[in-house]
Amino acid sequence: MAPSLVPWENSPSHVTLAKSQVHLWRFRLDLLAAEAAGLQRLLSRDELARAERLLDPAKAHHFVVARGRLRQVLSRYLDHPPEELSFAYGAHGKPRLVGAAGEALQFNLSHAGCWGLLAVASGVDIGVDVEKIDLGLDCENIATRFFSAEETAQLMRYHVTHRRRGFYRLWTRKEAWLKGQGCGFSVSATVMTDAKWWIRSFTVDRDYPGAFATAGRVTSVHRWHFV
Ligand SMILES: CC(C)(COP(=O)(O)OP(=O)(O)OC[C@H]1O[C@@H](n2cnc3c(N)ncnc32)[C@H](O)[C@@H]1OP(=O)(O)O)[C@@H](O)C(=O)NCCC(=O)NCCS
Repeated sequence: MAPSLVPWENSPSHVTLAKSQVHLWRFRLDLLAAEAAGLQRLLSRDELARAERLLDPAKAHHFVVARGRLRQVLSRYLDHPPEELSFAYGAHGKPRLVGAAGEALQFNLSHAGCWGLLAVASGVDIGVDVEKIDLGLDCENIATRFFSAEETAQLMRYHVTHRRRGFYRLWTRKEAWLKGQGCGFSVSATVMTDAKWWIRSFTVDRDYPGAFATAGRVTSVHRWHFV
């Protein structure tokens, strides 16, 4: 039976994670400049260079906050200073921890609008996605471009009044699943027939649907609001 989802709780300063548990963390991206500057000091040289290459100041701000929070959260598991954590990247850019500190700790990050979302698991691949619902988005048109035939058929089964929510549910599940595998986008890939992955939808906030996917069974899920 799927574990129930507890509400978002304020996070503790130290956390432990058992095998087959998943921790979801949400945090605000719209921090004041002074707070973001504190997080910026935690970033590595390559992360700072990446932030500088982002031409949109809002995107650069969100990137800095998300990477800073990522480091702060991971350091709560590892008893290791956030600024000393090191990341390596997969062929399609998926970050992972390197070094003795935390190779068994798996994580994945997503950001949308004013929310960042981080999923953490132990010894199992994980992917996560959050989206901000866009009332102007032509969901059916996007689906024809990015969904497999099964996913499009599933979308069309939603009543027209629920189709936008249905679209985001399908989208976040597919994106989380693809991100779990660390691969790029593929139209023909369909999350719906992959029994090896465990996928769960949830709400990050009003109008912010999310999903995570793990390559194995999950027995409990905690949701932490970063404080
Ligand atoms: C790279 C990619 C994952 C970014 O997706 P996005 O929706 O723009 O962004 P999200 O906020 O969800 O995720 C971005 C984060 O995922 C992580 N990431 C980057 N590449 C990744 C990859 N190949 N796999 C998993 N995670 C990845 C990074 O931490 C990144 O944040 P950062 O750059 O600030 O560190 C996306 O371009 C991609 O290739 N997605 C594959 C799935 C897909 O295209 N799905 C379409 C939906 S049907």
